[in-house]
Amino acid sequence: MSDTPAQTNTGWMPGWALAGWNWVRSRPIWMQLSAAGLVALGFLGFIFFLGFVSGEREVGPTYPFFAKVTNKLDMMFFQGGPTPPLEATIYNSALVRLGSEVAIVPTGRDSKDQNPLSQNGGGLTSLGDDVLVLAYNGKIYASTGPDDVRETNLVAPDNNREEYQALRDDPDFAQFTFHRGYLRYNDLMYVEAGSGQYLIASYTEYHPGDACYTNTLAKLALPDGTTDIDTVSATSEDWEIFFRTEPCMPFKEEHLAMEGHMAGGRMVFQAPSTIIFESGDFHLDGMRSAGPGIAQNPDAMYGKMIIADMETGEGRILSMGHRNAQGIAMLPDGTVLIAEHGPRGGDELNIIEDGANYGWPLESYGTTYRGTPIPNSLSYGRQDSFHKPIFSWIPSVAISGMTYVDGFDESWNGDLLVSSLATQSLYRVRMEGHEAIYSEPIEIGSRIRYVHQHTDGRIVLWTDNSELIFLTAMQRVDEGARFQNWLAEADYPSRVKANLDTVMDRCTECHSFQVGDDEKAPGLNKIFGDRIAETGFEGYSDGLSSKNGRWDRENLLAFLNDPQGFADSYMPPAGIEDPRVAEAMVDYLEFLDHQF
Ligand code: HEC
Repeated sequence: MSDTPAQTNTGWMPGWALAGWNWVRSRPIWMQLSAAGLVALGFLGFIFFLGFVSGEREVGPTYPFFAKVTNKLDMMFFQGGPTPPLEATIYNSALVRLGSEVAIVPTGRDSKDQNPLSQNGGGLTSLGDDVLVLAYNGKIYASTGPDDVRETNLVAPDNNREEYQALRDDPDFAQFTFHRGYLRYNDLMYVEAGSGQYLIASYTEYHPGDACYTNTLAKLALPDGTTDIDTVSATSEDWEIFFRTEPCMPFKEEHLAMEGHMAGGRMVFQAPSTIIFESGDFHLDGMRSAGPGIAQNPDAMYGKMIIADMETGEGRILSMGHRNAQGIAMLPDGTVLIAEHGPRGGDELNIIEDGANYGWPLESYGTTYRGTPIPNSLSYGRQDSFHKPIFSWIPSVAISGMTYVDGFDESWNGDLLVSSLATQSLYRVRMEGHEAIYSEPIEIGSRIRYVHQHTDGRIVLWTDNSELIFLTAMQRVDEGARFQNWLAEADYPSRVKANLDTVMDRCTECHSFQVGDDEKAPGLNKIFGDRIAETGFEGYSDGLSSKNGRWDRENLLAFLNDPQGFADSYMPPAGIEDPRVAEAMVDYLEFLDHQF
């Protein structure tokens, strides 16, 4: 008997395949298993790639099949666990430094058995000291900061999510593809109207009887003088629906039946009773639907800005030719601006004028996801015939919200803050009158769903990871003055003081002593006693980053004396000859550490 497996030839295999097969069978079992694993991984990767290509680009008859397979794989392998929440940190921007605090809202979003993509949407508003959060599940939470997140006794009006989700398993609707998460709450707004105090909810509503959907506005009257949400309770029946878009839209057979992530739905209020909101085109644009884009149909309230009265329930189209405005803001002069989530390339900032047509999908600065002209459009990447945006983001940033800023920091007064999903950033748009002058990106690091300014001035972000991020403006410290004050009081011989002053000038050519400013070199404000090479600086040398230990006095003195000898560091020698000056330098680093 030999260990070699018996040679088989069933006759159907070509010689080379048989030779290969026998070779594999003669390998040790671990090798066979690894090879099988590699082949399986390759196969999964290939399916994933096809799904990605057809799904991203939304092409071909293979799309629904591969999209389903990709979704399944995605859920099995990549979305099983929760993404860790952001940590409180400091964000740098051109004019101010932003302190952050992070509160986690217990929406249950990260439970393993639900696809996180299904759990998005919602909105923020302020009532008294609380920021109110309307989450995907229709629950309303209140928070004043990280240590105080409460579920309120209020729930949103019913959007018939259960009935909608059941369609996926209903044989009568087998010809449609449903995305369970695309029936969403789109906004929540507290208003003081002529007739009293209200919460207004904006959401996409499924109508089970007629199997169609609308964008719907409902109001909840609050008792007069309400300043504290904890004193109020309401069921979904307590809300009064006062406006629905028309017509009630039937499902489409191309792509997804109802694309509620394109619903828009964000609102602004003009006293005493006017609500202005955007009703998205639900991808009824001639690309993911048959026929011409609905945004150009004057009889359908989709792809339109809508103006409605919360007292009478009357409403009409304010402007047309919109895609999916996710951000809306009102300037103090009453001008309404929207930030539109564009196609590939072409997120837009528009000033809304009554009766104007903004051209979608006949004109756009964007293209299809393949980079080709938008079908049936009049031009390629130009806007010549219709109302133009005042600003556009290229490449697109996936806009998700917008707010007008006043009373956060003087230097930001009158700016707009636009939030993004894809780049996980805020964009601060400097407005001069009705012109947008620049857009500054500020990376936050989480998919931002909503940006809001609270009554106390803080900027609050709501993310797809159920985080509420509270941002405050931090004063920049005059580092020079701080050092001089410290030096004046320090007890060193005057020659040491003078020397240290010169040395310090050298350090500040590269290093900052501000919190979290690690751009050119590690920030030195808080390193004393901390681990070596642990700031947010991205360019550490291998030598320093692999060095163990902490920056105690001994290590600092050794490093400053000879950075290369200490850890083969990039830093040029500090050139401090007098050991008393080096000691004084370390004294200052120690002093700084106590400041934070
Ligand atoms: C020419 C630019 C430059 C100058 C000048 C300079 N540094 Fe540095 N410093 C660096 C760089 C770059 C690093 C990171 C080095 C590495 O990764 O090897 C560094 C690292 C350090 C660290 C370690 C930080 C950490 O995160 O572990 C300390 C401490 C430090 N410098 C102190 C000083 C002091 C004090 C001075 C003035 C006497 C000074 N440096 C002058 C560029 C500079």
